[in-house]
Amino acid sequence: MLIAQLSDPHVMAEPDDQAAHALRRAVSHLLELPVLPDLVLITGDCTEHGEVAEYETFRTLIQPLPMPVYVVPGNHDQRAAMLSALGRPGTLGLEGFMQYVVEAGPLRLIGLDTHLPGQDAGELCAARLDWLEDRLTEAPGRPCVIFMHHPPARSSLNVMDGIGLRDPQAFEALLARHSNVERVLTGHLHMAMTRRCGGTLLMTAPGTQHTWLPDLGHPERLSVQLQAPACLLHSWTPDAGLVSFTSVIADRTSPMLDLHDGTAWRS
Ligand SMILES: [Fe+2]
Repeated sequence: MLIAQLSDPHVMAEPDDQAAHALRRAVSHLLELPVLPDLVLITGDCTEHGEVAEYETFRTLIQPLPMPVYVVPGNHDQRAAMLSALGRPGTLGLEGFMQYVVEAGPLRLIGLDTHLPGQDAGELCAARLDWLEDRLTEAPGRPCVIFMHHPPARSSLNVMDGIGLRDPQAFEALLARHSNVERVLTGHLHMAMTRRCGGTLLMTAPGTQHTWLPDLGHPERLSVQLQAPACLLHSWTPDAGLVSFTSVIADRTSPMLDLHDGTAWRS
């Protein structure tokens, strides 16, 4: 099972602008990987303004992907327009939210809707947290991956933490009651960040336009280097469990190099 994660494409209605070009390139990148992913997660900010025309462009841009694509809303999305344009996939959906379950072979994927209308910060209200508690309780032995837009823990960057998930302690306390959550996967930061969260591992994905590398010497402000965009690849095998890789989205795909033939290093 191979899961690809893209994040924060911020698509606008114009199909030939920088955001659209970047998402088109990210889609091509996934299609040129050595192994085609079984499914794709896009962890929010699918569009810049949440307009219906933007979702139409977004849908056109991801159409070349032959595998299922699962999205959750970010702060730049609009829940009603997103639900209307894309529908809510999966099963066990929470009425009124883009929150649902995908049974993906050995893994249970749980998409959470952290959208808070009119705010850049995110929220998981009591209804959404109760729903998550039910989903984790009903399948205690099944490895789960939670995906959402807002990281539910501090990044140490004051500006981004100021628009993070409200009351992350409630989410962390819920997670800590369940031992079968393999990862929490988010976007929002446009950075590759990994940290502990509620007894599991939290990973944030870079954006499809750029990876932001923050100036950690000045956490009171947000200054970033714009580095090459990237995606995350999460591979599940029975022997190794869930292992995550970062794949840089380059303009040209590098050829495969055979370094070892299974029995010996190639000279
Ligand atoms: Fe974003």
